[in-house]
Amino acid sequence: MSEESLILEKICEVAQKAGRIMLEASDPKVKEKSGHANFCTQTDEKIQEFLIQMLGSILPQAAFLGEEEGQDEFTDRMKSGYVFIIDPIDGTSNFIYGYRPSVISIGLLLDGKPHIGVVYNPFDDEMYRAIAGKGAYLNGERIESSDRPLSDSLAVFGTAPYYTELQDMTFDMARKLLPECVDLRRSGTAAWDMCCVATGRCSLYFELRIQVWDYAAAALIATEAGCTVTDSYGKSLSYDGPTSVICRARGVKIIPECLLQKR
Ligand code: IPD
Repeated sequence: MSEESLILEKICEVAQKAGRIMLEASDPKVKEKSGHANFCTQTDEKIQEFLIQMLGSILPQAAFLGEEEGQDEFTDRMKSGYVFIIDPIDGTSNFIYGYRPSVISIGLLLDGKPHIGVVYNPFDDEMYRAIAGKGAYLNGERIESSDRPLSDSLAVFGTAPYYTELQDMTFDMARKLLPECVDLRRSGTAAWDMCCVATGRCSLYFELRIQVWDYAAAALIATEAGCTVTDSYGKSLSYDGPTSVICRARGVKIIPECLLQKR
């Protein structure tokens, strides 16, 4: 087994254990963060602590970038070497209100580029994983995005809930996108949305602002499943901070005009 496959296996084991913490948590104690309905629970903090400890023992030299408390800014030092980018619970509002799913997202950058991505949905025991250049897998089975056209596909979007200034543009885009696809969905977890595009359940995901821990793992998984992942200007993602995201399956050859922003 190659060194990177070994690292991937160990990360998946950690994600699975973190999933157990999520499933066993009851009555989450909620703290408010800045922004509209932006929450953190004691379980987010507990899982983040667990991930930092366990992942740190796999690669002691790695830096960490994570959603809850501590290092949440990409620094110059992270442009080289290994960096884990973690979201202990992507879909915190889902978690609080008992809406499914919520996932654990673990991305690993090497020299500023996506190297490994793991997204685990403990509610359905779905382990999505990818190594750059080596394809994407769901529970050990290779996955490929759909080659159906948008007109014969579901599309999903995120509401960028913490940025109220983006709501009008988001819903204007969604309204224009609806007649171009079969129907629209909104799950509440950006990482899982991109994994759904990767598996072929739907063919497009867009959101006007998400954080690097929401997309670091899932954007690699989607790319390895044949998707094209860009920002809403059509530029590749930089993996160093917040951005808009459009993730298209193989069958969606160009970014729909209604989602494309011009400078
Ligand atoms: C959020 C979820 C949601 C998306 C937000 C994200 P969080 O992540 O992914 O689907 O619409 O933009 O911030 O806060 O639950 O980790």
